[in-house]
Amino acid sequence: PYLLTEHNTWLQNRLSPKFLHTNSTSHTWPFSAIAELIDNAYDPDVSAKRFWIDKTVVKDEVCLSFMDNGNGLDHETMHKMLSFGYSDKIALNGLEPIGIYGNGFKSGSMRLGKDAIVFSKSKTVSCIGMLSQTYLEMIDAKQIIVLCHLFSLTISLLSVNEDQEASLRDILQYSLFKSQVELLAEIDAISSSTAKTGTRIIIWNLRRTSTGSTEFDFGTDRYDIRIPSEVYEELSDPSQPLNRATSYVPESVVSLRAYCSILYLKPRMQVMVRGQKVKSQLIAKSLAYIRKDYYKPMFLDQQNGFHS
Ligand SMILES: Nc1ncnc2c1ncn2[C@@H]1O[C@H](COP(=O)(O)OP(=O)(O)O)[C@@H](O)[C@H]1O
Ligand SMILES: [Mg+2]
Repeated sequence: PYLLTEHNTWLQNRLSPKFLHTNSTSHTWPFSAIAELIDNAYDPDVSAKRFWIDKTVVKDEVCLSFMDNGNGLDHETMHKMLSFGYSDKIALNGLEPIGIYGNGFKSGSMRLGKDAIVFSKSKTVSCIGMLSQTYLEMIDAKQIIVLCHLFSLTISLLSVNEDQEASLRDILQYSLFKSQVELLAEIDAISSSTAKTGTRIIIWNLRRTSTGSTEFDFGTDRYDIRIPSEVYEELSDPSQPLNRATSYVPESVVSLRAYCSILYLKPRMQVMVRGQKVKSQLIAKSLAYIRKDYYKPMFLDQQNGFHS
């Protein structure tokens, strides 16, 4: 593991901040970016029972917030989550993880907005991390810098090392939260759930369309997050021009609630969109005709450990 860590540090130190944007373009659709964050809570190492997706306004800035009541994470895992080149996920109790490449959080969060802050509460510690393109631009960073800060469970600060003090200072200066009290209030929001542990992610500087509005429509349906038609047209494959008269757009493409309802074949986590439960659609049960086809990639035997 030490060798790996050295390699990862090497990799991280050579990544330009611009890579955060480049890397995010793997998500052509905003909902797949959101799915990365949902998957992380659903994965067996976190095994959240609930996942909340909301729009929230912090200091007049429209943000997306994601919260789960899973196991939370400690300082080291937080650091890995915000950095590149790590994933130590393994199957737990026979449940295969979805994430195995260690890139979901970075690509997903940075697809949705330029800046993300993560609050987490595990059984033993609370910590805060920030991955912010705005911050990296403002300090003219030449490589990606990840900020992490650890709180002890009491309100008083656990005075850790200088790095952490510097992280806290920069988080307060460059995030939307300007005091420790404000930061702690977000951590408290996690513990108000029954599990007392979990993770809360706030993304701001949301991506905007060419006309300057956010790519999400929060107004049409108070209990949904929708993709407006102009965004739909802008993002759709230009080689397949839309024929408005005939083209039918499935709800799951433009409604986050509909998208979440079909996300998992085996739902084991309740997703809440803007305070309302998402009703899972068991796809297999809603189809008129079902045929099962088992597919096994030919190269599976040679490449042990590859999960499709
Ligand atoms: N909601 C969460 N709660 C606890 N840990 C998380 C959460 N999201 C991400 N993590 C941790 O961060 C790591 C990196 O996540 P990600 O970038 O999506 O890569 P991957 O899922 O492929 O490991 C995960 O392996 C997990 O340890
Ligand atoms: Mg993941």
